[in-house]
Amino acid sequence: MQLLFLQSEINDSFFLYKEGLIEDSLIWDEDNQLWGAYRYDHISYLLHHPAALIPPIKQEDFYLLSQTASKIANRLARLNGPPIHEVARTTANLLLNIVNTEMVDSFLGGLLPNNCVEVKIDWVGQVAKQLPLHLILSATFFEKSDAEFIVHNIESLTSLISAVKTKSQIDRINDVADRIYSITSDHIISNPILSEIINEISASFNMNHEDALDYCTSNLIGIFIQSYEAARGILSNVLLHLDKLKPENKIAICEQQIYVQYVTEVLRFDGPVHYTRRIAGEDIVVNNRTIQKGQSIILFLAAGNRDARKFKNPDQFDECRSNNTSMISFGSGIHACLAAQFSIQMAAQTIKWLTRRFRQIHIVENKISFEPLYNLRLPKQITLLLKEKITI
Ligand code: HEM
Repeated sequence: MQLLFLQSEINDSFFLYKEGLIEDSLIWDEDNQLWGAYRYDHISYLLHHPAALIPPIKQEDFYLLSQTASKIANRLARLNGPPIHEVARTTANLLLNIVNTEMVDSFLGGLLPNNCVEVKIDWVGQVAKQLPLHLILSATFFEKSDAEFIVHNIESLTSLISAVKTKSQIDRINDVADRIYSITSDHIISNPILSEIINEISASFNMNHEDALDYCTSNLIGIFIQSYEAARGILSNVLLHLDKLKPENKIAICEQQIYVQYVTEVLRFDGPVHYTRRIAGEDIVVNNRTIQKGQSIILFLAAGNRDARKFKNPDQFDECRSNNTSMISFGSGIHACLAAQFSIQMAAQTIKWLTRRFRQIHIVENKISFEPLYNLRLPKQITLLLKEKITI
């Protein structure tokens, strides 16, 4: 069985995952020499297994990446295992602690003309690709001109965290890495709250100031990348399933909790990150099959979220299901997403804002197309027609 496919080429990825889910054990892809884990319990077991490691960055990528791009990659929480991971994760966590969703309403308000009865917007381009990164940049005190440069150029850096990079993607990374690095680094040094994080990392890990600054800069850039990619996916997917929010629940429209439950169920039912990778640091046995040391494993998080062994009627959308918080869209274990709560609150607040202001929310496209990516299912475009503004 061939495990990997481009999300742009498949209408219903979940249909393909069913084949993996009916098997009792892992699936071996002979052509690509990969294991695939589909069951919820197998994925959770592997995410917590100390010998299931984050795959190292390919040596051939390091030959092509500029010095600055390699410096960032070598310090990112997302791309490294112990001992670098501990410093990187602590740094990313300290940076994310100062991020909040306070600006969601004012950002969304600024997008739409006042007193409009009907408005058409490009949701992915104007909101999903912008809002999360703007929230991060404003919470970390960036000046408008620096923030604009980062927002305009971050797309070129996104393939830095991909397992496979083409030559042209590496060229794009190298084109912007130096400038984004120096803007971010200078800003951290000049801001008292951010530079306090350098001191904290330096003291906690007995590290010189310059190294601690490198960790802070690299991980803040990592946060920019992840807020542009995965967070764009959740802001898109919460729109695609809005018609599934039950009318009786919509009545409770002021309840933030309903929106949080709705977003959580969207993440289970149709999360943007379809899989993550691991490499076996030693032989690992899963249900009588042995992943040999050095072999790669694809953990299909999106399939695990549709495992009937864990979620009753998994293909049914139900924002009130009792265990939707057990979804694994944010991973689990030592590499679990640090921005899970931020992402859920941001998406919940966005949907609350939208449904409170517009009586009708229509998606114009009959068929949504997806970016040509393997691990992320990201809608390319969602055109929204918003009608009848509600004044509140
Ligand atoms: C502002 C938005 C986001 C930021 C800043 C962010 C940041 C991060 C960071 C720093 C990590 C690495 C943690 C570590 O290795 O210790 C991570 C991991 C992860 N994130 Fe996020 N994230 C964001 C949004 C999302 C969203 C919306 C999703 C999916 C719904 C997601 C899914 C994941 C997954 C699955 C992992 C674990 C990967 C693995 O174990 O291999 N993230 N995230």
